[in-house]
Amino acid sequence: MTDKIRINRLSEAMGVEIFGIDLNTLDDATFGLINEAYLEHQMLCIRNQKLDPQSLVDFSERFGEVLPHDNLKFTLDEHPKILVLSNDVDQNGNQIGVIDAGDAWHTDHQFKKTPANCTILYSLKNPSQGGATDFTNMYTAYDALSEKMKARIARLRGHHSISKLKNKRVEISGSREDAIAFYKRQEREIPDVEHPLVRVHPVTGRKSLYCSPRFTIAIKGDGLSKEHAETLLDELIAHSLKKPFRYRHTWEDRDVVMWDNRCVNHRATGGYVYPDIRHLYRTTVEGEAPVAA
Ligand SMILES: [Fe+2]
Repeated sequence: MTDKIRINRLSEAMGVEIFGIDLNTLDDATFGLINEAYLEHQMLCIRNQKLDPQSLVDFSERFGEVLPHDNLKFTLDEHPKILVLSNDVDQNGNQIGVIDAGDAWHTDHQFKKTPANCTILYSLKNPSQGGATDFTNMYTAYDALSEKMKARIARLRGHHSISKLKNKRVEISGSREDAIAFYKRQEREIPDVEHPLVRVHPVTGRKSLYCSPRFTIAIKGDGLSKEHAETLLDELIAHSLKKPFRYRHTWEDRDVVMWDNRCVNHRATGGYVYPDIRHLYRTTVEGEAPVAA
């Protein structure tokens, strides 16, 4: 299969698009090529895929254990490892998927002891406007820090929480009526975690900055005052969002997009309104506990 494959850069910051692959008939050589591109470019878009749910799960499992989703209401009945992201409704007018997840910059499962490796999205339908996904490269964000800053943050730790109630950098969505009860419950079920602020990628060995406005609520370390930590976190977040590190993905129907949560932050940009439909399937692959430099 590898003869017909074409790979183009998507931006200076990161990402490639790949043509000429059918993920339904993926052989080991082609998987090897995809995996290499994934590790080198941090984000991939495999165009023109016609996948049934099982094929999406099979492809995802090539990268590791595919995790069950917490939100059972919006997983596919026959495929609980696939979460539906959609603003569409059924015949009775009921929501059929998660509508507005991920609008603040984050990396998936940063609030867990073992955050995600990759997230894979399969796009079935895109709105006529909006619905793009933004990415920022946390390897190059780290590389671009001054040597002084690298030394300053080398041994610090980020404190991460799933709860928006504890986080002054994010707003609670107006569409979540039970927000306070919802986040209180999450606080009880998923205790906060600390991870190294600079993490080393388990495969590439590259260092990346590991913080996000959605999940990082504090930075901790020897002798760091709370006040200085707050300023430092603001500074690092602002730095990570500088233009040279960023790529905005405009979706085409039947794109399979995946990114490496160990070195990339992302956010959904919204900007579409029902009945303009955005409909995707998501799988998430388990990662490992982040390791410090
Ligand atoms: Fe996400």
